[in-house]
Amino acid sequence: MNATPMLSVRDLVVSTHKQDLVKGFSLDIHKGQRIGVVGESGAGKTMASMAIAGLLPPGVTARGSITFGGEEERFEDARPGVSPARRGVAVVFQDTGALNPLMRVGRQLDEALRLAGVKDARERRRAAVSLLERVRIDRPEQRLRAYPHELSGGQRQRVLIALALACRPTLLLADEPTSALDVSVQVEVVSLLNEVADAEGVAMIVISHDMGVIARLCEEVVVMYDGEIVERGTTGQIVNAPEHPYTSKLIAAVPKLATVAGDE
Ligand SMILES: Nc1ncnc2c1ncn2[C@@H]1O[C@H](COP(=O)(O)OP(=O)(O)OP(=O)(O)O)[C@@H](O)[C@H]1O
Ligand SMILES: [Mg+2]
Repeated sequence: MNATPMLSVRDLVVSTHKQDLVKGFSLDIHKGQRIGVVGESGAGKTMASMAIAGLLPPGVTARGSITFGGEEERFEDARPGVSPARRGVAVVFQDTGALNPLMRVGRQLDEALRLAGVKDARERRRAAVSLLERVRIDRPEQRLRAYPHELSGGQRQRVLIALALACRPTLLLADEPTSALDVSVQVEVVSLLNEVADAEGVAMIVISHDMGVIARLCEEVVVMYDGEIVERGTTGQIVNAPEHPYTSKLIAAVPKLATVAGDE
């Protein structure tokens, strides 16, 4: 593995004025690597990733240090914005409501490509079609004219991934990318993410409470519990020999994994 990680997070604490939501999160990720973050609802997964992406909500601050692409930023109870250094980080949210319901898919892609610096309108259109092809949406030209509600849940999630790819990210933060989808569609979106990461060489941090999704996408896992990382290791280690009782519980919740792990 190459020596310098593309992203290095050190002692990240995320707080409101009342309490710490994330109490010390450290993580290194190398080019093309895929790391899963698992943990139950409220463990602090989204808050940690929002701090990394520079998208913390109002009233929530961070301290610690984040190094991305060789540039270190230190925070002291600040609300980090999206710094130029971290423009290479793109986020895919759980909620397909992240799409603007009033704007056609093509317009949203066009906007994202414009922000990414593609100046020529015809070039943006070509790029938009190509992005939809890359996320395997059929009849892409036609879909550009569709509104989000005219697409299926799986297609909407594919559009979100296309929007994330528009800024040519080197790191994709996928927060519960499949939770809102039916099981069969979940499998499709997981394979798409695998495919995209392979083809584009992007690194991924995949956040989920579902160890099954993580196991299919990531070679390494960190387990969060109550704002802290309680365990980390390769997916194999974590699934086959979990050390923290809470991790065992997460694994037992996924029947197929439990069998692999020889649980019960
Ligand atoms: N905007 C906010 N302001 C203040 N506290 C918040 C805010 N959003 C979330 N929290 C709190 O921060 C803690 C961590 O929440 P977070 O959303 O990171 O959990 P999570 O691990 O992503 O959970 P889930 O699996 O449900 O998405 C929770 O206690 C939550 O109530
Ligand atoms: Mg969350």
